[in-house]
Amino acid sequence: MGSLDGKVALITGAARGQGRAHALALASEGADIVAWDVPQPMSSLTYALGTQEDLDLTAKLVTEKGRRCLSRSVDVSDASQVNSGVEHTLEEFGRLDIALANAGIVTVGPFITITDESWDEMLATNLTGVFTTLRAVVPPMLEQRWGRIVVTASMGGRMGIKGQSAYNATKWGVIGLAKSLALEVANDGITVNVVCPCTVRTPMVQPDPDTDVPEEIVRQLTRGNPIARPWIEAEDVTRAVMYLVQDPGVLTGTIMEVSLGSSARMP
Ligand SMILES: NC(=O)c1ccc[n+]([C@@H]2O[C@H](COP(=O)([O-])OP(=O)(O)OC[C@H]3O[C@@H](n4cnc5c(N)ncnc54)[C@H](O)[C@@H]3O)[C@@H](O)[C@H]2O)c1
Repeated sequence: MGSLDGKVALITGAARGQGRAHALALASEGADIVAWDVPQPMSSLTYALGTQEDLDLTAKLVTEKGRRCLSRSVDVSDASQVNSGVEHTLEEFGRLDIALANAGIVTVGPFITITDESWDEMLATNLTGVFTTLRAVVPPMLEQRWGRIVVTASMGGRMGIKGQSAYNATKWGVIGLAKSLALEVANDGITVNVVCPCTVRTPMVQPDPDTDVPEEIVRQLTRGNPIARPWIEAEDVTRAVMYLVQDPGVLTGTIMEVSLGSSARMP
């Protein structure tokens, strides 16, 4: 018996990284998984996005845990794809209990070098993509009078960071979105919470797992962290997500910082 037996969980950006780790943990607790990824190519990015092969592997790993996985190419910046993805989920499973708005992209660089294209792609995925996802999943949750929503922001949504102004703007944005939605559905059995990870060792920061991150960057990253590690693993974020979907009690509209202790320095 798993704590999520009978539940259906949608995860955006599920082909790899944190999304895949969340999918496997939820499946281990008995949830059937709806896994979305493989967006349109984005020309402003310096790293590759999740592929169909990555998404197929997530689906295979979920299935090996004995759960169903409905995987689908959905670009969260496209409301029509998101809406039809939710319709398909309801046709197949008849319910939708958990939604993890996890898909995201990053571009770094000084403020004055941010191109229109980079700004537009960042907002389209990181901010509009969370909006389209939440807008589509809330109605079935309202009908069920039960839902668990977790939005993945970032520690970049808790502070300013040089070279990350566009990314941080989107992550501050989704926190405002999640908190406001949490108020609207507070008495409808739906919780809406946010996780804010610090640097996570996923393809977003280490595109080639066989190539080590340069030592100087590892040293720089470690220097800022009370727990003297350069980064966390996807599974560290999964632990926070699992808490928020399994039994958050009266926790809603809140932020869980997964930050190697750096939250201790913040007001
Ligand atoms: N890695 C970090 O250091 C870090 C830190 C804090 C927050 N985050 C956030 O965590 C989330 C997960 O990132 P990750 O670390 O697993 O990175 P990742 O790049 O490994 O995974 C992100 C996944 O999202 C998918 N994706 C991107 N745009 C999409 C779109 N428009 N539609 C559908 N799917 C899309 C990608 O294809 C990819 O598979 C992101 O929101 C990211 O901003 C990451």
